[in-house]
Amino acid sequence: MGVTVLVVGSGGREHAICWRVLRDRPDAKIYCAPGNGGIGTIATLVPIGASAIDDLVEWAKTQQPDLVIVGPEEPSALGLVDQLLSAGIRAFGPSAAAAQLEVSKAWTSSLLQRAGIPIPRTAIFDQAVDAHNYVDSREHLVVVKADGLALGKGVLVCSNVAEAHSAVDLLLVERKFGDAGSPIVIQDRCFGPELSVFALCAGTDFRLLGAARDYKRAYDGNTGPNTGGMGAYTPVTDARPQLLQEIADRVIGPTLEATSRAGAPFTGILYAGIMLTPNGPVVIEFNVRLGDPEAQVILTTSSGDFVSAIELAIDGNLQKVDFSPNGSAAVCVVLASKGYPNDYDKGHEINGLDDLPNGALAFHAGTETSSGSVYTSGGRVLSIVGHSDNIHSAKRLAYRAARQITFKGVHMRTDIATSEISTLTDTNGERLK
Ligand code: GLY
Repeated sequence: MGVTVLVVGSGGREHAICWRVLRDRPDAKIYCAPGNGGIGTIATLVPIGASAIDDLVEWAKTQQPDLVIVGPEEPSALGLVDQLLSAGIRAFGPSAAAAQLEVSKAWTSSLLQRAGIPIPRTAIFDQAVDAHNYVDSREHLVVVKADGLALGKGVLVCSNVAEAHSAVDLLLVERKFGDAGSPIVIQDRCFGPELSVFALCAGTDFRLLGAARDYKRAYDGNTGPNTGGMGAYTPVTDARPQLLQEIADRVIGPTLEATSRAGAPFTGILYAGIMLTPNGPVVIEFNVRLGDPEAQVILTTSSGDFVSAIELAIDGNLQKVDFSPNGSAAVCVVLASKGYPNDYDKGHEINGLDDLPNGALAFHAGTETSSGSVYTSGGRVLSIVGHSDNIHSAKRLAYRAARQITFKGVHMRTDIATSEISTLTDTNGERLK
């Protein structure tokens, strides 16, 4: 009898997690709450939303899975892992206290400043008048950030002082995001290519799981609105071993020491959003989970057993972890609905998912099935991954597969893994002039 796993979440990341569990453990029984149309082909869908944590805990107490893997940040922030562990169920993800690394930018930047971890110059305000005075005093472009989760819209990259004042008013006076918008964090804007670095963590111990580059803007050339991510690739040429070691030594290790000292030891996957500035790597953000779509490329290019790695992390015993990048390459292209990330269409039939070229995979995000057909049901619909021994053929495979899939209004970026673009970005993916 194989391991029984509940995966919590419904995106391309969770489809990739289910796929990887099944690849490493072909006899596993996988449940996914709530999952999506594609996940339903390899897992039993449990109709409970990812943030309905009381219902998830009840389900787990009744079904007694061997392991629960939490995909997104919100259930962890709401205490899902704490409650499951208290109920004697093995659960992987951060505690609510440790999830503050993602859900409170003020808490995190204070922690990082105290620990001497490289972040942009930072100040925190809950009064608009003080924030306005600070903006006037800085001879530097700034980024104004809402403290909490704000549907991905709480980071305002300002191109001049007037925009910075408007951002302060939006968050602290108009209270656009309510309590999530206060206090605010004002950081100096910095420039350089971005890198998503992932570490499997157990308290103060960790193992790097690899690095990927994400494309956050909706349109080619890093233009258009920010999205959850329109594509990703790994390995990243500029993430050389020496640089990753520096990020491990100067960022990941000290952050884990600091969270432990703060009484919030971190177990789970830590995602460091790093900017490679001329002065060295700087932390732009932390997330407390695998990235989406970065998971889709990290999980397809690693050797070892993902389930064992997770179980060893839960047990605080990372020495035996054998899960690590295997040197192969993956490129992920997201197929999105027309209009995403704003209002978008849904309910369109998806064709072309069968007979993808060898080496290509389709991870579902916003899909549902009905009478044997697959329909769009979200903004990001599919993550198409090309996997090969080098980035060029991985990219060719990903685009060949992506172009074979059709639905009304399909939109994709055509420049994922195109290096000139990925190395000329700034804090929020804006192209440098
Ligand atoms: N790809 C960005 C994120 O997962 O937050």
